[in-house]
Amino acid sequence: MGKMVNGIADNLLVATYLAAKCPVFFAPAMDVDMFRHLTTQKNIKTLQEYGHTLLEPEIGELASGLTGPGRLQEPEKMLSAVTDFFEKKKDFSGKKVLVTAGPTYESIDPVRFIGNYSSGRMGFAIAEAFAHRGAQVIVIAGPVSVDFNTPSIKRINVTSAVEMFEACKSEAPDVDIIVMSAAVADYSPVDKAPSKIKKKESALTLKLEPTHDILKFLGENKPPGQKLVGFALETDNELGNAKLKLKNKNLDLIVLNSLKDKGAGFGLPTNKVTIIDRENNVESFDLKSKKLVAEDIADKIKNLL
Ligand code: CTP
Repeated sequence: MGKMVNGIADNLLVATYLAAKCPVFFAPAMDVDMFRHLTTQKNIKTLQEYGHTLLEPEIGELASGLTGPGRLQEPEKMLSAVTDFFEKKKDFSGKKVLVTAGPTYESIDPVRFIGNYSSGRMGFAIAEAFAHRGAQVIVIAGPVSVDFNTPSIKRINVTSAVEMFEACKSEAPDVDIIVMSAAVADYSPVDKAPSKIKKKESALTLKLEPTHDILKFLGENKPPGQKLVGFALETDNELGNAKLKLKNKNLDLIVLNSLKDKGAGFGLPTNKVTIIDRENNVESFDLKSKKLVAEDIADKIKNLL
């Protein structure tokens, strides 16, 4: 009977967790060997990668008589961790933030385009982090398939680099912070064929022209006090190139993604970033959920304000 009641309680817990859209905290409590077991440690890491917060067990004497980590955190400590979390979340109130997300599509003809693998997940996570922390957020999003619909966030949909440029140009002067995480196409076809290009035996040559470098434009026209954050996706000389981009585009921070890191990059739920500031301070973060990466980026921006 006891087992059945426990089973029902476990099922209820799992159902509540799976349906939850709110921040999740978890406080493991068990015997020390169970806690140190690789399975438990792996599961904790997975939950942290989902963006959940671990309330670490305390070290002390356990029911088994062993001593070590495994005691449930004291309720007062848990309460203050949760309170701190929500209070911190309002540290951007009164700020206006513009975030760009996703790829752009450059039309070749009515049925084809040049695009990239960006899912928009990183940009959306950043937008949500700022909104949760009290900012008024605008997202300019390229064509993406992931769901993103947070009622408090104003979303402007664009398709091409030129549309993203126009939208950024009109929204940028009014905001305190801009995070340019969109993967904007660097080139666009010179001629967009009005009807479908028919297949021929010979090779097809497309002539491409550079698009506007939106970030550079925003850096050149940055109003006093505005903070501008760019991303850099590099495969070679990563730090050197990122530092150069920070300087050339007049940024306050640059977030470097490396395609060499397993688990980081386009389409994945996790990312691994290095953040560089104008004083050349370099901070490398662990691989974590894009939600937690977004919090790290917001924390770094907070330090600049
Ligand atoms: N970016 C932009 N406008 C473009 C291209 C890129 O605003 N036309 C922005 C991106 O949103 C990102 C940053 O510039 O924040 C860096 O993008 P990245 O592709 O790494 O670098 P590029 O400046 O395009 O240079 P390169 O491709 O030579 O590395």
